[in-house]
Amino acid sequence: MAWLVCQCTVQHTDRHQQRSQQRSAVARLESLNLPAAETVDRLNGGASLFWKDMRQFLAFLEQKGDLVTIKKPVSTDFEVAAYIRKSSDVEGPCFVFDDIAGYPGWRVAGAMYAAPRRILDGLSVSIEEATRHYLKAIQNPMSWQVVETGACKEIIVTGDDVSLSDVPIVRHSEKDGKYITAGVQVARDPDTGVHGLGMHRMELFGERRLGLWAPGERRIGRARVKQEERGQRLEIAVVIGPDPCTTLASCARVPHDQEKYEIASALLGEPLKLVRCETIDVLVPADAECIIEGYIEPNDRSSESPFGEFPGCYGGRMEVPVMTVTAITHRRDPIYQTVLTGFPVTEDHLLNWIPMNAVIYEDAKRISPGVIDVTVRGNYVYDTVIKMRKRHETEPWNVMSAVLAGNAQAKYCVVVDEDVNIYDDREVNWAVSTRVQPATDVHIFPVMVGAPLDPSAPLIRQTSKMGMDATKPLSADPLRYEKVLVPGADEVTWE
Ligand SMILES: Cc1cc2nc3c(=O)[nH]c(=O)nc-3n(C[C@H](O)[C@H](O)[C@H](O)COP(=O)(O)O)c2cc1C
Repeated sequence: MAWLVCQCTVQHTDRHQQRSQQRSAVARLESLNLPAAETVDRLNGGASLFWKDMRQFLAFLEQKGDLVTIKKPVSTDFEVAAYIRKSSDVEGPCFVFDDIAGYPGWRVAGAMYAAPRRILDGLSVSIEEATRHYLKAIQNPMSWQVVETGACKEIIVTGDDVSLSDVPIVRHSEKDGKYITAGVQVARDPDTGVHGLGMHRMELFGERRLGLWAPGERRIGRARVKQEERGQRLEIAVVIGPDPCTTLASCARVPHDQEKYEIASALLGEPLKLVRCETIDVLVPADAECIIEGYIEPNDRSSESPFGEFPGCYGGRMEVPVMTVTAITHRRDPIYQTVLTGFPVTEDHLLNWIPMNAVIYEDAKRISPGVIDVTVRGNYVYDTVIKMRKRHETEPWNVMSAVLAGNAQAKYCVVVDEDVNIYDDREVNWAVSTRVQPATDVHIFPVMVGAPLDPSAPLIRQTSKMGMDATKPLSADPLRYEKVLVPGADEVTWE
């Protein structure tokens, strides 16, 4: 059973530790010639972000000892991905590859978000704050700022000089084609003008051709469908290596008429700086590493190669729309970012973690004010855990029904009491072992709309779902269910 598999134990990062990490980051930021007063004020102001671009975040990780520079030559065919795979499996460091065979002038960053602690560092929050911090940004969006130019335009290549062969696009899993996996796509909705952001895989099809997997339920996919119906092309930009806030905001599950750049600005704590693209009418983060500009013509399609997908099985092989590239702009010494998708847990899963938590928290909290916290785990899409203080014996049923119905991709929902740390799989599994009677506490929902990539689904997007009440009975003798603890275990240390 999915929740009995201990896939990832997130260490408790307490607020004190987080703040001291932030303080040490100030020293590093000062060496980057940022005004120290600004960074200190931001720290004192609370949990706002101060990584204005990816390089500041990488500098912080390096200073913290959470980044390793690989100096020997590495290949974009599997070798970069092999480092990321291993680091993902052991919650290891982020990598910067200095010497990418065949791509002089480029470096590659990988595994940037391959450990939960780096998602939290990207947002500058503790694990307990993360979901509500993210929700607050969704609920209190902030305007962006358009600037004349930015680091992403230090080099501008347009017209016949454009060649994707110059960009170190990585081949990740055994059967994959070459895919851009960390690109944040930006395209404007033709009806509302809203800038849609999302992360979508893009297969390299040719010198100036990229596939795009963005179904019509996604905002980028919907904008493309609308344009195709009108016989018009969709202008689109691919942002490589933006700041952590833009990356995480692009994964927000919010209505299509909400601007994700405003969520990014709210997460950042100040207006995100955007510049106009060279060849299309789209705004992109000024200080990103690289921007690929272009358009999708109506009915221009091609067949994808397989792609190692987030359930840990192969997807891909879709007939996908094709982007024609019109410009590539980048920094003078660009860092190409890539993420691994595949067997859980990878960056793909962890990037979805807090954005998924935010929607599930809202759904659960709407049903019961007793909901305290939520998290997704396992493959960070199918398995949900809810912590609540129930007042009625059957309240967990209402909550799990809302979560499983409200989130098509949620397949399992476990509800636990407030004494269980939902970020520690051992504790959740302990609650399942000691507080669940399968005959009475498990509820199977026969068929509902489910995740598109679940290979066990008998029909595409049709799946049964399961809820489990792992809370103790209200009338229970408290000692019968009490967690056994050893006093002082958290304080002892040894060499
Ligand atoms: C690394 C990564 C890769 C992703 N790849 C895809 C993809 O290829 N196709 C897709 O539809 N969604 C993909 N997603 C999920 C979407 O980016 C995510 O659902 C986003 O919120 C889409 O926004 P929208 O639903 O507002 O359009 C990916 C997510 C991550 C973190």
